[in-house]
Amino acid sequence: MMFQKPKGTTDLLPDIIQRWQHIEHVVHSLCERYVYREIRTPIFEATELYRRGVGQTTDVVEKEMYSFLDKANRNMTLRPEGTAGVVRAFIEHKMYAEQDITRLYYMGPMFRYEQPQSGRYRQFHQFGIEAFGTEDPTLDVETIALGQQLCDELGLRDVFLEINSVGTPAEREVYGAQLRAFLAPLRTQLCADCQSRIERNPLRVLDCKVDQHLFGDAPVLLDELTPKSHAHFEQVQAQLDALGIAYTVNPRLVRGLDYYTHTAFEWKVRAQAIGSINTIGGGGRYNGLVSQLGGPVTPAVGLAFGLERLVLLMTQQGGSPQQPPTAYFVTWGDEAMRCVQPWMYALRQAGVVVTSDAKQRQMKTQLKQAVRAEATFAVLLGETELAQRRVILKRLATGEQQEVGFDELVVALTKAHHERHAHTAHHAFGIGDAPEK
Ligand code: HAM
Repeated sequence: MMFQKPKGTTDLLPDIIQRWQHIEHVVHSLCERYVYREIRTPIFEATELYRRGVGQTTDVVEKEMYSFLDKANRNMTLRPEGTAGVVRAFIEHKMYAEQDITRLYYMGPMFRYEQPQSGRYRQFHQFGIEAFGTEDPTLDVETIALGQQLCDELGLRDVFLEINSVGTPAEREVYGAQLRAFLAPLRTQLCADCQSRIERNPLRVLDCKVDQHLFGDAPVLLDELTPKSHAHFEQVQAQLDALGIAYTVNPRLVRGLDYYTHTAFEWKVRAQAIGSINTIGGGGRYNGLVSQLGGPVTPAVGLAFGLERLVLLMTQQGGSPQQPPTAYFVTWGDEAMRCVQPWMYALRQAGVVVTSDAKQRQMKTQLKQAVRAEATFAVLLGETELAQRRVILKRLATGEQQEVGFDELVVALTKAHHERHAHTAHHAFGIGDAPEK
């Protein structure tokens, strides 16, 4: 008898693991830079946590949970998402008492009993962050910025950000009544799922892929927001503009989980990149969840990305799982080779990716290696240059080259490295061009 992996799960074989490790590495490094601390919560929790946290009428709770009775007849569920468990831990460990803002992140497997297809699995992995402690739109924007930076640092192409405000529960109630009135005459034309959603969760109806063509004249939630909620959403947009982060407002964007208030957002991929699925990450504010789960009133905001979807996209777009070097050192002669070692050491300490040919092959061969490694620069150095305390800095894409002194080299390469990774930051300080909108 031969066994096979359960439907909707994957074996991550060594061939693909390099990409996973690369993403994990970028995630850890990014969270360190934003001062988010890692949290690891159990893979199963009491089923009631998700019923109350994620919401009774969501697909996740209604259809997709892996629930089971343990030997003492407790109803348990394999976590379908990370937020509810993190909020439970936040309350249980009284983390709200520690400091003003608590910034947490996590990575790990999640479980949803869905119909598997490319990019959709029953066991999948998420990277997520949750930040607690202020209603200020600055924290919404910090969350979005971290997510955007993740996409940028992974080199993802054709990804775009959509944002919306889903208001407060009170605002949604008013809007929900209008929406029901709008949907009532359409009832018989709607798909079976939507018909049953009209009463329980009318906002989700607008999200239906099958029935989109019927909703052109539907009332828009954004139009029903109170001035206070509007102001919050405007602030989020203004701050995103200040960071040079491009987005579109999609008034139809509603997330699949019930806890959201105000800002909601998703990163999507253009044109069927991962089969029919196009969302790679999403999140939003959830000001009511902590108190709803028994904690003190604590506004919060967070997001999660699906790691499988990131891997799929990166594999499709053909990017290298590793960061290409900023500089490849090409040397001839023993002395030159020895001379560059302390520079490389210093550059690596400064976080710059550099490498060299350690075999002392012909210069032409070394240069070929540099091109193959997709290095930005080759740094050339032989006896003559050594004597003059200069090196040749060659930009490989254009072939353009210049001579620089020893001292300038480390500065120039550190700068080149940071420029490659931080055009957004430059923009914020008014240096360089604004990133494309
Ligand atoms: P979500 O939109 O349900 O949000 O899931 C986030 C991401 O997880 C999705 O964008 C997708 O990439 C990935 N994902 C979801 N289901 C599957 C699946 N069956 N197979 C593969 N990937 C999947 C949440 O889970 C919220 N907890 C996010 C959040 C955190 N909001 C606030 N804080």
